[in-house]
Amino acid sequence: MTKQSIILGIESSCDETCCAIINQNGDILANVIASQASIHAPNGGVVPEVAAREHLSAMRPVITEALKQSGLTLEKINGIAATGGPGLIGGVLIGTMTAKALAFARDLPYYAINHLEGHALTARFTHKLEFPYLLLLVSGGHTQLLSINSLGQYERYGTTLDDAAGEAFDKGAKLLGLGYPGGPAIEKCAKTGNPESIKLPIPRQQYRDCHFSFSGIKTALANSVSKHSGPIPTADFAASLQATISSSLISRSEIAMERFASSATSEENKMTFVVAGGVAANKEIRKNLKSLAESKNFNMILPPLEFCTDNAAMIAWVGMEYHMIGKKTEFDFAPKPRWPLDQKASPPPGRGVRQ
Ligand code: KG4
Ligand code: ZN
Repeated sequence: MTKQSIILGIESSCDETCCAIINQNGDILANVIASQASIHAPNGGVVPEVAAREHLSAMRPVITEALKQSGLTLEKINGIAATGGPGLIGGVLIGTMTAKALAFARDLPYYAINHLEGHALTARFTHKLEFPYLLLLVSGGHTQLLSINSLGQYERYGTTLDDAAGEAFDKGAKLLGLGYPGGPAIEKCAKTGNPESIKLPIPRQQYRDCHFSFSGIKTALANSVSKHSGPIPTADFAASLQATISSSLISRSEIAMERFASSATSEENKMTFVVAGGVAANKEIRKNLKSLAESKNFNMILPPLEFCTDNAAMIAWVGMEYHMIGKKTEFDFAPKPRWPLDQKASPPPGRGVRQ
């Protein structure tokens, strides 16, 4: 490894085509994102086939733009990383084939990166964070609590049995006629609402584990809306939905913090709690998580939002971590629609098999 290693990363597992270039100090030399949000908005969610076609046309311009932003040519790049899963397979295939082609043509190492590992290690370049730490990943595709022990060593404490928290916001917003993406719309609308006026059940309160379930909230909201007589108090429903999702995240995070603390080796230092994913943009949820963290002797870290949501800098960074220990991926790597971070984790109880 040379002193000035530089990795180019590609992310295309959902509805954003991204390319970033990073050096081994974690400096971002380029970070380009082509979002498809406006294309999917009329459908109220991501249409996989449409997403794949968009990735195909955006991939090359996004890489060209990243190189231009960095002022570098491909000759200066020391390795190519791309999300190899989990995610929508069409997009993952396009990113993987592009990365392999670039690496093969330039005789560079190729790194297939687990998208979740990208989120998990983001705070390592944004905050130069040392292992271990506790992570809450809360996005439109994932809701997980993980102990991030060291590179490649991740212990999943819990995951969702069905929908992700972001999905609950999106589906709730659709039901209330607030548009897509639902999270920001619900947050805005909730400001003038009373979270106490409509009661929605907080899922899985009877279980002392770290697993989530959000599909029931949507059903409870739908039932509550249909039973309501007179004009629908949208703000009250939005506030109640937000408060219920927040309470669920808080109660599971509390259990995870206790578990993490009980396995911590040192009792002197404050432990670290990282929150990542699009739902972390929600101010109410952030405030509640922060006070929980303080009460449990955790320092809460929230990477800047542009690196919390899907981006290629996190993929390039994980590529760099593996590059630094010389662990590249073979060219016969096959993209994985499912790829749990913790291969040893037992499946969550009930019907869920989400990663
Ligand atoms: O991490 P992200 O950008 O994409 C992936 O899912 O990978 O997360 C998007 C999710 C969407 O479900 C969106 O509704 C939710 O994050 N979100 C929010 C807020 N902003 C985005 N949820 C609640 N409050 C917000 N302010
Ligand atoms: Zn993501």
